[in-house]
Amino acid sequence: MTRLFDRRLIVVTGKGGVGRTTTACAIAVAAAQAGKRVCIAELAGLARVPEVFGKQGRSYAPREMAPGVDTISLSALDCMDDFGTRRLKVQALVRLVFHNRLTGAFLDAVPGLPDMQQLGKIRHLIEEPAPHDPSYDLIVLDAPATGHGLTLLDAARSLGEMTRVGPFYEETQLIVQLLTDAERTAILLVTLGEELPVNESLDLVEGLGEDRARLTAVIANQVRRRPLPPAPPWSEVRDWLRDQPELSDLADHAHQTWMAQERALSRLATAVDLPVARLPRLERVDLDGLAVLGAEVEGL
Ligand SMILES: Nc1ncnc2c1ncn2[C@@H]1O[C@H](COP(=O)(O)OP(=O)(O)O)[C@@H](O)[C@H]1O
Ligand SMILES: [Mg+2]
Repeated sequence: MTRLFDRRLIVVTGKGGVGRTTTACAIAVAAAQAGKRVCIAELAGLARVPEVFGKQGRSYAPREMAPGVDTISLSALDCMDDFGTRRLKVQALVRLVFHNRLTGAFLDAVPGLPDMQQLGKIRHLIEEPAPHDPSYDLIVLDAPATGHGLTLLDAARSLGEMTRVGPFYEETQLIVQLLTDAERTAILLVTLGEELPVNESLDLVEGLGEDRARLTAVIANQVRRRPLPPAPPWSEVRDWLRDQPELSDLADHAHQTWMAQERALSRLATAVDLPVARLPRLERVDLDGLAVLGAEVEGL
C-alpha cells in the first residue's frame, strides 16, 4: 500500500477538540521535512491553522506557514467563484448571480453543494492546477467536525445523483473518484485516549457502513506517557510514598488515568481493526513538537 506521505490527499477527521487541526499541521510539517510540498486546506474560514503556526488571519490565496508548508482557507463562496471561472466560463455572471446576499441561501439550499465546491477546489489543486497555482505534492484537509470526513463523500455522491449531467455532475464524479482512490487519498480518524471519545469514534466507525473500508488509520492524540516506571511494581512505590499521602494519591490518580487510557486504546485497536498511531501529549505545540507528532504517523 502507498505510504501515507506519498498520497496526494490526507483527510483528517474526528470530533471537535480531539486535535484534528493539530494533527493536520503535524502531518504537513513532517511531510515537508521529508521533502514534500504541502498545503493544509481548512474549510469554513475558521483560520485555526495559522494560529497553530503563530500567525493570524485567513486567506483564500495560499500562505506559507513553515518551510514547505502552505495553508489555504476555502470558503464555499470563493470556491464557487473559482468553479465558475474554470468550468462554467462565465465569471462575471456567476459573480452577479452568486456574490450577493442570496448566495449563501443558494449554496445552503442545495445539500452538498458547499462541500462539493470546496472539494472541487482541492481536486483542482491536485489534478489540474492552474498556471498560477503552486504545485503541491500533498494536500492535508482539516475536515469539519460536523459528522465526519466521509460526509464529504456522501455530499459528492448525493449531489451527483441530483444533477446527472453537466459540469457539476462531472466535478462530483471526479471528486468521488479521488476520495475513493486509496492510492491517492488517505482518511484518518483522530480520537483521544479516553473512554468517551473512544466510544464516540467506535460509534462513528460503526455508522460508516461500507465506507468503513475507506478509513486508512486511527490517530490516538494526546496520549499520556506512563507516569511511573513499570518496575519496581507500583505497589512498592506506593509503600515508599506512605509518608506522603497527598503525593501518593496524586500518583495513584496519574496511574489510574494512564491505565484507563491504555484500556480505551486497546479496545479501540481491537474494534477498528486498523493501524492506530499514538501521538504524545506535548507540553508545547510548536514547530518542533509538530514534527515529533508528525513522525508518529509517517510510517502509516
Ligand atoms: N498532542 C497534543 N499535545 C498537546 N496539546 C495538544 C495536542 N493536540 C492538540 N492539542 C491542543 O488541544 C487543543 C485542541 O486541538 P485542535 O487541534 O485545535 O483540535 P480540533 O481541531 O480537533 O478542534 C488545542 O489547544 C491544541 O493545542
Ligand atoms: Mg480544528
